[in-house]
Amino acid sequence: MTTDLMSRRAALLGPNLPTFYDDPVHIVRGEGVWLWDAHGNRYLDCYNNVPHVGHCHPKVVEAIARQAATLNTHTRYLHEGILDYAERLTGTFGHDLRQVIMVCTGSEANDIALRMAQAATGKTGIIATDNTYHGNTAAVSHLSTRRPPIGGYPGHVRRVPAPDRLAPVGGSAADEPTAFAAHVAKAIEELEAAGHGFAGIMLCPIFANEGLPVTQPGFLDPTVEVVRRAGGLILADEVQPGFGRIGSHFWGHDLLGFAPDVVTLGKPMGNGHPVGAVVARPEVMAAFRDAFGYFNTFGGNPVSCAAAMAVMEVIAAEGLQQNARDTGAHMLDLLRGLDHPAIADVRGLGLFFAVELASDGQPRPDIAAKVVEGMKDRGVLMGRIGRQQHILKLRPPLPFGRDHAAMVAERLQEALAQCPA
Ligand SMILES: Cc1ncc(COP(=O)(O)O)c(C=O)c1O
Repeated sequence: MTTDLMSRRAALLGPNLPTFYDDPVHIVRGEGVWLWDAHGNRYLDCYNNVPHVGHCHPKVVEAIARQAATLNTHTRYLHEGILDYAERLTGTFGHDLRQVIMVCTGSEANDIALRMAQAATGKTGIIATDNTYHGNTAAVSHLSTRRPPIGGYPGHVRRVPAPDRLAPVGGSAADEPTAFAAHVAKAIEELEAAGHGFAGIMLCPIFANEGLPVTQPGFLDPTVEVVRRAGGLILADEVQPGFGRIGSHFWGHDLLGFAPDVVTLGKPMGNGHPVGAVVARPEVMAAFRDAFGYFNTFGGNPVSCAAAMAVMEVIAAEGLQQNARDTGAHMLDLLRGLDHPAIADVRGLGLFFAVELASDGQPRPDIAAKVVEGMKDRGVLMGRIGRQQHILKLRPPLPFGRDHAAMVAERLQEALAQCPA
């Protein structure tokens, strides 16, 4: 059956469509932190951050079904759903971040954020790191580093070296925050010299796609100062850290301790229903609306808002942010107890973990790849990140408990033991 699905995919969907695992998994059902394949095998999901409150959470399913059976239209008609949600969402932000555009994906949200920075400053230059991903629209894909754009990176985009635990920017962890900021300052100078000017910097506050190298508050303080001095906007991509995943705070920028001008949201926001958003200060929103207007046929539709509201309600009712903090701390202890000579660093924020594998300072993607396959065979789904794909990434749905943590640690130790350093 898997072979049949693979050949149908290739015939119908075209080439180079990625799958996970040497032997791709055919998932047919999900519940909470669990997934089942077509053969009835059960997997503990430690990869997926989209089903944030758990796969097929009944409250989210019910909210979607109820609203879909009542009405689904768009934002050119009046509806309370989007307003109730916008109130609930903006209630979680400080820094005057109190106006919202609803969209369908993180990519759309980031595309808008870039245009907000350009509208608010009248400049076009954008900075991002050189080991990141912010989405798949034409504009946003220019910030993503896996596949260079046709014709090369455009002149108005500058990429600065991403923070890195194995090879810190500036040579040491202590110097990294100022060294990173110095690269940003240089990129701003270059943008200005080239006539683009500086509109803003787009960053994930915890540098999730860069491999979670930054876990300490204050890391971005020198960068924020440089950006503010140059009159640019700070665009915080909260698609990965947001909605309580990091446990200690609801948003990544609050952990780091800086005030973004624009925040973008996606993945976990609708628990799998396609919902994203851009949250901004009123004057930034006004500059954007004056320059571009903006209408999104599906963004903010009543069904999406019902899904997103249900997610917020479940996070609060089930104490999922607290669970991310407490179970996350326990899991981090267990991961730190793993024994393998190639474990170079173990770090985590709430229920987001990175286990970096290296020998003599050199990344070991070979071991990471084998461990991920070995874990799948042991019934645990997880992934890899990092410039060399040498960092094990675990990012389970938030109803993850201590028993799940124990299972992961035990099986991870077994899988690592199968991989000589
Ligand atoms: C940090 C970050 N921003 C934006 C996106 C794009 O989101 P979407 O796939 O919903 O367009 C992703 C997707 O992986 C992401 O990781």
